[in-house]
Amino acid sequence: MSSIIEEVMARKLFNSRGQETIEVDIITTDGFGSAAAPAGASKGKAEVVSYPAGGVDAAIQKLEELVVPELIGMDAEEQNEIDALLHEIDGTDNFSNIGGNTVFAISVANGEAAATSYDLPLFQHLSGYLTNELPYPLGNVLGGGKHSLGKTTDIQEYLVIPFKASCFAEAAQANIMVHQKIGALLRKADPNFAGGRGDEGAWAANIRNEEALKIVAKACEDVSAELGIECRPCLDVAASSFWNPKERVYVYSMEGKKRDTGEQLEFMLHLIEEYNLAYVEDPFDEDDYESFAELTKKVNNCLICGDDLFVTNRERLAKGIEMCAGNSIIIKTNQVGTLTDAWETTRLAKRAGYVPVMSHRSGETTDTHLAHLAVGFSCPVIKTGVLPGERVAKINELIRIEENLGNRAQMSNI
Ligand code: PGA
Repeated sequence: MSSIIEEVMARKLFNSRGQETIEVDIITTDGFGSAAAPAGASKGKAEVVSYPAGGVDAAIQKLEELVVPELIGMDAEEQNEIDALLHEIDGTDNFSNIGGNTVFAISVANGEAAATSYDLPLFQHLSGYLTNELPYPLGNVLGGGKHSLGKTTDIQEYLVIPFKASCFAEAAQANIMVHQKIGALLRKADPNFAGGRGDEGAWAANIRNEEALKIVAKACEDVSAELGIECRPCLDVAASSFWNPKERVYVYSMEGKKRDTGEQLEFMLHLIEEYNLAYVEDPFDEDDYESFAELTKKVNNCLICGDDLFVTNRERLAKGIEMCAGNSIIIKTNQVGTLTDAWETTRLAKRAGYVPVMSHRSGETTDTHLAHLAVGFSCPVIKTGVLPGERVAKINELIRIEENLGNRAQMSNI
């Protein structure tokens, strides 16, 4: 069976930050797919380029002139060939010609068109019918950094993961309860707290870094007791965003404190041990593989995850594996462009025992493909926020996927 591409259309939409983004529709002989690209704010240096000079308008023009004529007549089921063709048309090693987000939208829309031609949901098409595991949702509940305005925590994200939840719907509920409890605790700590939220819907408060973690840990404890599950606090430090390369220090503005690399390592170890953290993302600058390795060696029962460090890139992950830097990797497909690239990085991670975490970006639309990629690639964890709508859209899609799997569905056994 084949699913021949007949039409490819692109349009300009807006993401949750109000920035322009690209959406692509693909119509095949018997299928249809449509995908919109997300956008990062705290991007890794080594990510592909999102758009050519001229932004989304230029990307759409290039898509119409250079890509559409080549795609028409191809078989959407040949995802590898389509993705290889996108590399070839672009001709650069970072998609700076046609844009990584253009490529992302085409690649995902194509995967969906192939899936619908078999009347299959995308997650089943990607996994070859095999999967039955739901990921644990890693939800951003409090934060600051580049995802908010004004005086907030230097650490970008404080998150929760609800281990031992019996099903995905219960896990989602637990994260929402932790988010709500944190709102109440922030209000109690500061009667002037006005309920501000950052780009990913996490509370954004004028609070010091460790105070914030205390509040998250307390909310996790309360919800764990209430539901009889194990909610654990987590961090996305996004340390590159406050690393000063000249002085070689991490600048913690909220505390008026600078930490050199050794002190940063000690601080991370202290937070992991004191608050029983389950996950720490980007605790060091994006080129500091050595410190990632040092921290990984010293912790037990905690995922040390690379986002800006690896940028979903095979070569950067291979270097990390060789150096034992981290034990987990963020998978953001638009950091590398195509589904095939993201899938190969995910497979390499799994072979090396690294936990792949399928992740949203801070600028999102209500596109729900992320839920399908998490299940289709068998990622044990999905990082997709808790609230508001563009985050809930992915969570709700996972609840639908759980229902679709029926009694075969189970939580990942991370
Ligand atoms: P981003 O990061 O701003 O690079 O998309 C989002 C995240 O890691 O949650």
